[in-house]
Amino acid sequence: MYLSLLITFMCLAGGVFSSSLFSPCKKNDLPCIETTVNDALPKIFAGIPELGIPKTDPQFVAVIDADLTALKYTFYNSTIYGYKNCKMSNLKINDDLTKISGEVLCSSLMMDGVYEMKGRLITLPIEGNGNYMFEGASFHVDFDIKLDKIKGSDGKTHLFIRKITYKAKPLTPIKFNFQNLFNGKEDLAAVVKKFAQENWLEITLLLQDPIWEASLDQLKAAVNKYLATFAIDDTILN
Ligand SMILES: *[C@@H]1O[C@H](CO)[C@@H](O)[C@H](O)[C@H]1NC(C)=O
Repeated sequence: MYLSLLITFMCLAGGVFSSSLFSPCKKNDLPCIETTVNDALPKIFAGIPELGIPKTDPQFVAVIDADLTALKYTFYNSTIYGYKNCKMSNLKINDDLTKISGEVLCSSLMMDGVYEMKGRLITLPIEGNGNYMFEGASFHVDFDIKLDKIKGSDGKTHLFIRKITYKAKPLTPIKFNFQNLFNGKEDLAAVVKKFAQENWLEITLLLQDPIWEASLDQLKAAVNKYLATFAIDDTILN
C-alpha cells in the first residue's frame, strides 16, 4: 500500500500521467501526435462516464433542423454510428498549439432516426415523415480547428476547441431509405428512391451540412470535456 502510494507520487512528480489517453509526444513529432490522437479518439467516442463525457459513437442527436433554399427537413432522435472508424492524417499544428488542420477518412458511417421533409430534392418534389436510414457513407473531411489555451485552477495549460471548420466530401454511394414518403404512395416513393440512387452525390451535398454541424457540435463538446481534464504541459513536450 505504501509502496503503491510512493510509486503514484513519484509518477505524478515526474510528470507522467498514466491515466491520460494521450501518450506524451514531442511538439514537432507529428507522426507521434497523429498516432496518439488516433488511439485516443475512439476511447473518447466510447464515452467516459467518470468524467461526464457522453458516448459519441453511437451518437444520439435529438433534433437536426434544416431550412435549405428549396427544402426543409427535420431529423428527430437520430443515431450516428461509426466515428470510431475514422482516421486522421496529414496533421499540421502551429507552433503555439492554437491551430490544427488535417484530413479525416471515415469509412463506414451510418445514421437512422425519424424524419420530416418537404420541398424539392434537387428537381424532384419530396414530402414525407417516418423512419429514415442512411447507409454506406464514407467521407473525406478536411478540417481546421482553432483552439484556445486556458490556465486551469491547477496552474497548468489546458486546450479548448473554439471552432471547427470542415469540408466533407462523400466518397461512395450512400443508400437513402425514407419510409412513408408521400404518406405511403408507393409509386411516387419509387420515383424518389430511383432518383436518390442515381443522384446520391448531389443529394448528399445538399443534405449533409446541417447534419455535420449538429454532430460536430456534440463531438466538440465531448472532446472539450476531456481536454479540460488533462494538461498539455504533460503531453506535448518541447
Ligand atoms: C423521440 O424520442 C422521444 C423519447 O423516446 C419520444 O418521446 C419522441 O416522440 C420521439 N420523437 C419522434 C419524432 O419520434
